[in-house]
Amino acid sequence: MKKNLGPKLELYPTPVVVAGTFDGEGKPNLATLAWTGVCCSEPPMIQIAVRRSRYTHGAIVERKVFSLNIPSKKYLVETDYCGIVSGRDVDKFETAGLTFVRGEVVDVPLVQEFPVSMECRLFRTVELGSHDMFVGEIVAAWVESDVLHEGRPDVKKIDPPVFSPDGAYFGIGELLGPSFSVGKKLIKNR
Ligand SMILES: Cc1cc2nc3c(=O)[nH]c(=O)nc-3n(C[C@H](O)[C@H](O)[C@H](O)COP(=O)(O)O)c2cc1C
Repeated sequence: MKKNLGPKLELYPTPVVVAGTFDGEGKPNLATLAWTGVCCSEPPMIQIAVRRSRYTHGAIVERKVFSLNIPSKKYLVETDYCGIVSGRDVDKFETAGLTFVRGEVVDVPLVQEFPVSMECRLFRTVELGSHDMFVGEIVAAWVESDVLHEGRPDVKKIDPPVFSPDGAYFGIGELLGPSFSVGKKLIKNR
């Protein structure tokens, strides 16, 4: 039996990404985000939802570019740290011991230690309520060669944390089966 909890966000799990920005003075910053996802395949686009109070919000509005970086779970402490302090007050790269390289297509900081980094150009901003949704077009996707399998990123090797909105990080679990495939056993007359 299900219980209606009312109009609540009950989407489990969500990804954990770290957005990279330069502010107006060129200071690099990072912010951990869990309200994020793919929103278009062609052209490739992702969305992030950012509160207007975040330092990152102002940087994206000003520069109209950002990076999205996927940590592996061995960087969980650094990732969480980037979500609990503001770039207004601290240099998160320095404290977390992370380094950045500049994007090649747009001017954004990419986290060198994380296995996946995407350069994004702001496509649209949607004012929603508590958060503004930034839709970013991916203009370059950098993937560490160690996590590639036959030329494609391997999620087991990326080993990202995922987020449960009730307040916990998990790792990814075991392989369950091939997508667009296991469901075929319910298609009749094949
Ligand atoms: C796991 C996790 C997920 C978060 N997700 C979001 C998010 O989706 N949107 C948001 O605005 N803030 C989110 N935050 C909070 C920001 O990361 C946090 O306020 C951070 O200090 C903002 O940094 P900034 O002020 O340097 O931009 C999250 C924090 C954590 C720890």
